[in-house]
Amino acid sequence: MAPTPEAVPRHIAIVMDGNGRWASKRFLPRIAGHRQGVESLRRTVTACAKRGVKVLTVFAFSSENWKRPADEVSGLMDILTLALSREVPALSREGVRLVFVGARNELSERVQKGLAEAERATANNTVLRLNVCFNYGGRWDIVQAVNAMLARGEVLTQDSLSLNLAAPFGSEPDLIIRTSGEMRLSNFLLWQAAYSELYFSELLWPDFDVVALDAALAAYASRERRFGMVGATRADSNNTAV
Ligand code: IPE
Ligand code: IPE
Ligand code: MG
Repeated sequence: MAPTPEAVPRHIAIVMDGNGRWASKRFLPRIAGHRQGVESLRRTVTACAKRGVKVLTVFAFSSENWKRPADEVSGLMDILTLALSREVPALSREGVRLVFVGARNELSERVQKGLAEAERATANNTVLRLNVCFNYGGRWDIVQAVNAMLARGEVLTQDSLSLNLAAPFGSEPDLIIRTSGEMRLSNFLLWQAAYSELYFSELLWPDFDVVALDAALAAYASRERRFGMVGATRADSNNTAV
């Protein structure tokens, strides 16, 4: 059952993992899994927008993914540019704003142009903000923020650092989902994940469907977020004890 609107996380982040295993299980090349992963992302974006999620941040290519075989890396770059040219008009009609986060200067001119064009075409959309972390790493993000602040002679505080991260999003993720049964962050949103609820799905990313998304939303709705404070239930029992 879908949770009530007020229990829907405002900001969801997803480590879209398991494309390669999805392909291997079918005796297909890994790149076929990445292609199917785009389909999965496409339906997740629509479903999140329908459920009232305002920000969706996805991990598409990590700082460490360059260590994969060259043909997989170039295949991923091609899939990104192709997906953008195909999907941007429809995403725009759904009110989705695309934002890319990561070390863009390390990407080819062609890819950089595609990212800039997609951001420009969707800049005024307000239903859902889709942050695509591409050539992104949480450590990269913290270091680039600190370097920018040092260059400007700014004082480093928790608040000022948060504002200088490449991925400020105006909010930190309420819920982080990772698929494929792996239970680690793999350098995703290290700073921003401080108080995110974590949810792990056994499904491989291409198999992650609307039913799986609703299961994650239901799990989130049942959590009690405490942010270091005393929880509601615990506060009550403390009061009766006094
Ligand atoms: C996630 O799927 C996509 C990227 C990292 C680009 P993987 O390619 O990591 O799939 P597995 O983990 O090998 O199955
Ligand atoms: C994390 O997945 C990166 C993305 C989903 C883009 P990986 O598959 O690269 O992570 P590890 O290597 O299993 O930790
Ligand atoms: Mg993986």
